[in-house]
Amino acid sequence: MSRASEAVSGWDSTGLSILEISHRSPAFEGVVQETERLVRELLNVPDDYSVLFLQGGASMQFCMVPLNFLQKSKKEAVYLDAGHFGEKAIKEAKLFGRVNVIASSKERGYQDIPCDYKIPEDAAYFHCTSNNTIEGTEMFKFPETAVPVVCDMSSDIFSREIDVSKFSLIYAGAQKNTGPAGVTLVIAKNSFLDGVKHAVPSMLDYRIYRDNDSMYNTPPVFAIYTTMLNLQWLKGKGGVNGINSENKAKAQLLYEEIDRNPLFYGSAVKWNRSLMNVTFRMYDPAKEKDFLDFAEKNGMVGIRGYRSVGGFRASLYNALPLSSVQALVDCMKAYAGKHHYNFVPAY
Ligand SMILES: Cc1ncc(COP(=O)(O)O)c(C=O)c1O
Repeated sequence: MSRASEAVSGWDSTGLSILEISHRSPAFEGVVQETERLVRELLNVPDDYSVLFLQGGASMQFCMVPLNFLQKSKKEAVYLDAGHFGEKAIKEAKLFGRVNVIASSKERGYQDIPCDYKIPEDAAYFHCTSNNTIEGTEMFKFPETAVPVVCDMSSDIFSREIDVSKFSLIYAGAQKNTGPAGVTLVIAKNSFLDGVKHAVPSMLDYRIYRDNDSMYNTPPVFAIYTTMLNLQWLKGKGGVNGINSENKAKAQLLYEEIDRNPLFYGSAVKWNRSLMNVTFRMYDPAKEKDFLDFAEKNGMVGIRGYRSVGGFRASLYNALPLSSVQALVDCMKAYAGKHHYNFVPAY
């Protein structure tokens, strides 16, 4: 944060700010190259993949993926419906072609990620979301298939090791573990991009971004610069493996308290519990507002669950220290200590 703010005051040798330099200047080209190099190093990206910096957030990818890979295709796209954002991706894909929703956990309130399905071999691609940010579920195994796999990794990219070679396209809005909002990371297999033969509007065409080193138009300069700083920080933490150990310790600490504390329960099934977004509720829903007030008075910020889901959500992204999780756990313990009421869960 301090290095980002210093660069706003004056960044290059002439004293120009990162906000006013030309994106075509050699200094900024160096930033883009270094950011790409860090992405490749940290995620072990194979050479036949392109690393692209786009705009429009992950939501833009919901339409860009089917626009490129489904429109004009005789095949259908296969989607896994395991959460709010997957559902949004499905809605957009339907504008461009045939969509087969192969499995859904919607009727179970998205408490789990379906795993019992078979992807048809002739699908254009299979789309999934590796971490369901709102519901607090995470995919720890991805299907083995010859069909190109497209994955929305917005909320767990850089939190753990992934085998990029198993995916044809990965996308992620930056604003969790990557950098500030405004840049969207895409990692795509070149042969998958080259399979697109129809004309696509330039700003929505992955090949244009690739062929112009992500600088077909003015890129989000400050967001890319800050992403570079963040990835340097991550490298200093021992890369994705180093941070993954911390992430596991943080999640374990909180889930243990949720399971131990008689007032709370986890919203997601145990085998899909996310390391990034821990969702939980109280057995007595009438107490949730009271706990939230108590937590806020004790300095907890942002643990209210997503508006459509309710309850609580603690996001434990890479930057959050273990001490913050400990503070929340202490707060839950203190609340339970104050409230020795005999509440018997309804089930
Ligand atoms: C998994 C996932 N996909 C997509 C989105 C939408 O991202 P954006 O706001 O960058 O469009 C989010 C945002 O939180 C997300 O968590």
